[in-house]
Amino acid sequence: MQVPDQKTPRRSSPVDPVPSTRERDLESSLRPERLEDFLGQARIKDNLRVFMTAALQRGEPLDHVLLSGPPGLGKTTLAHIISNEMSASIVCTSGPILDKPAAIAGLLTNLGEGDVLFIDEIHRLSPVVEEYLYSAMEDYRIDIMIDSGPNARSVQISLPPFTLVGATTRKGLLTAPLRARFGIDFRYDYYTADVLKAIVIRSAGIMGVDISDDGADEIARRSRGTPRVANRLLRRTRDFADVQYGGRIDRTVADAALDALNVDDKGLDEMDIRVLQTLVEKFGGGPTGLQTLAVAVGEDAGTIEEVYEPFLIMEGFIQRTPRGRVVTPRAYRHLGLAPPGAPLPGLFADDRS
Ligand SMILES: Nc1ncnc2c1ncn2[C@@H]1O[C@H](COP(=O)(O)OP(=O)(O)O)[C@@H](O)[C@H]1O
Ligand SMILES: [Mg+2]
Repeated sequence: MQVPDQKTPRRSSPVDPVPSTRERDLESSLRPERLEDFLGQARIKDNLRVFMTAALQRGEPLDHVLLSGPPGLGKTTLAHIISNEMSASIVCTSGPILDKPAAIAGLLTNLGEGDVLFIDEIHRLSPVVEEYLYSAMEDYRIDIMIDSGPNARSVQISLPPFTLVGATTRKGLLTAPLRARFGIDFRYDYYTADVLKAIVIRSAGIMGVDISDDGADEIARRSRGTPRVANRLLRRTRDFADVQYGGRIDRTVADAALDALNVDDKGLDEMDIRVLQTLVEKFGGGPTGLQTLAVAVGEDAGTIEEVYEPFLIMEGFIQRTPRGRVVTPRAYRHLGLAPPGAPLPGLFADDRS
């Protein structure tokens, strides 16, 4: 059973809070516009540069691009960069908004040659709309209905060659026929602390914030591998710096601000910790099914799967087994607990992570 979205209160987390208009404006002011300013994700960037150059040389639109990965890693940013680099216009929409074929037909018929159509949350397209997209993607053709009643008939119209850029946090939910129609398929990795540090320094420069090297280090290290989180923590840390520390961010200020924001020294936030604690305290460390875990922590199962779990798995705090989620000895130690069956502390001095 899927816990319905609308019944789940949106929780404020540094990963995916409901942003205010001002926060959204700030976020877009920090968004790189050119590929050279898009830091990290070297594999994606190198490949994309080749594909874009080849398409430009041939005077063709770029092949359709699928971008997948957890929220805040730069999917929307890259869609805009693609349109900038291809000197094309971009039209942005999202899966849940496109409820009828007519909605997507309207967008498609208004595209110019080489334009980018960006569909966010493409895994949430309805099946009819998705099917309607197939011929548009493959042959740049769609059928539209004209007239109604007894005169209704469908005519085929051709579209200018365009590039569909789809973004998803749940690639596994895409149907095989849709996935097969993307010629370019990029999966994001979490960012390393080094790259996040460079992003923090770049953003601080744009915001006119005075930050020390070790201050940037501290924010980067505790940003869950995610640029959006890094930028958000930078903004919040700046608030503390301005109000309590005379404006400059150094390690001490960053440390104090991040502690006040409940971001721990590994970058785990309250919900991350709650997931680990619940698994340990209520389920003896697991294995626990996703739905059971979701109900116990009071969060939507999809959000746990998309947002929290990938990072906790990457950092080695939980494992996914066929029978459910299991916490690792590392998670016990992080919570300040002895893993079950572990030797008494102090017997093996190197048994730490
Ligand atoms: N590679 C990157 N280099 C610099 N900043 C980035 C990068 N990726 C993301 N960002 C920053 O993080 C923010 C969130 O990125 P976004 O593209 O909205 O993520 P997504 O669409 O994957 O959820 C952007 O506003 C941008 O400032
Ligand atoms: Mg996005």
